[in-house]
Amino acid sequence: MTNVIETETLTKSFGGMTAVSGTSFSVEPGTIVGLIGPNGSGKTTTLNLLNGAIAPDQGTIRVQGENLAGKSSTAFVKAGVTRTFQNPRVFSTVTAMENLLVPVLHTRGGKAGFTKKAEELLETVGLLGHRDTPASELSGGQQKLLEFVRALMTDPHIVLMDEPFAGVHPSVKEVMREAIVERNKAGTAFMIVSHEIPDLTRLCSRIICMSDGQVIAEGTPGEVTSHPLVIEAYLGQGPASRGERG
Ligand SMILES: Nc1ncnc2c1ncn2[C@@H]1O[C@H](COP(=O)(O)OP(=O)(O)OP(=O)(O)O)[C@@H](O)[C@H]1O
Ligand SMILES: [Mg+2]
Repeated sequence: MTNVIETETLTKSFGGMTAVSGTSFSVEPGTIVGLIGPNGSGKTTTLNLLNGAIAPDQGTIRVQGENLAGKSSTAFVKAGVTRTFQNPRVFSTVTAMENLLVPVLHTRGGKAGFTKKAEELLETVGLLGHRDTPASELSGGQQKLLEFVRALMTDPHIVLMDEPFAGVHPSVKEVMREAIVERNKAGTAFMIVSHEIPDLTRLCSRIICMSDGQVIAEGTPGEVTSHPLVIEAYLGQGPASRGERG
């Protein structure tokens, strides 16, 4: 089966600083893949590349087999890639319902159908009672849940999530986790960036670890978390000592 996402030698520099350096990896349909790595290792930059927010300097990004490197975020959404952010980006002055209708504004189909779909999604994360609440009046955790279900409005093949569990109340975290699991059961793939390794270990079948812009380990959660290069990267040892291990 075609991978939902497949990158080859993906590279992105900012000035003289290479944030993502020749990374190649793939996400199989319907899987949940974790992306870990120390601060500044290139995780958010990778998500920015994978949804077309920024263009790579080199490399390919195949979405369902089609290379979209350099294409706009709109092209990525059309191909089935959506995204949430480290700090939730909701439209704060409009209601929860209106937030969900934004991604489908220019999509053909009756408004009533989209409203029903939005209500169902709000229900799955306990926000239906806040249907008409301006997003600015929701808690930070609720805004993360709102941003998550907004990313589902276009029926994506994959949702890229940046730190969905960071700084949220444990009860919100549990709602988020269950919503991800339910959606994944329906076939949606996920790539989840998180520093919360125990949460990822519960959720993911596979984890990719980055350090200094490169993929240093990939495998099951058990394999990756016990990998010597991963342990060294988290202990903050330099690339030279990592090289010695070979
Ligand atoms: N727009 C930018 N301009 C310049 N440098 C950038 C830019 N975006 C990222 N970087 C640099 O690229 C490197 C990787 O950053 P990135 O945000 O991808 O790391 P990260 O793994 O998401 O880190 P964290 O865990 O702290 O969120 C960092 O050194 C960062 O300073
Ligand atoms: Mg980041």
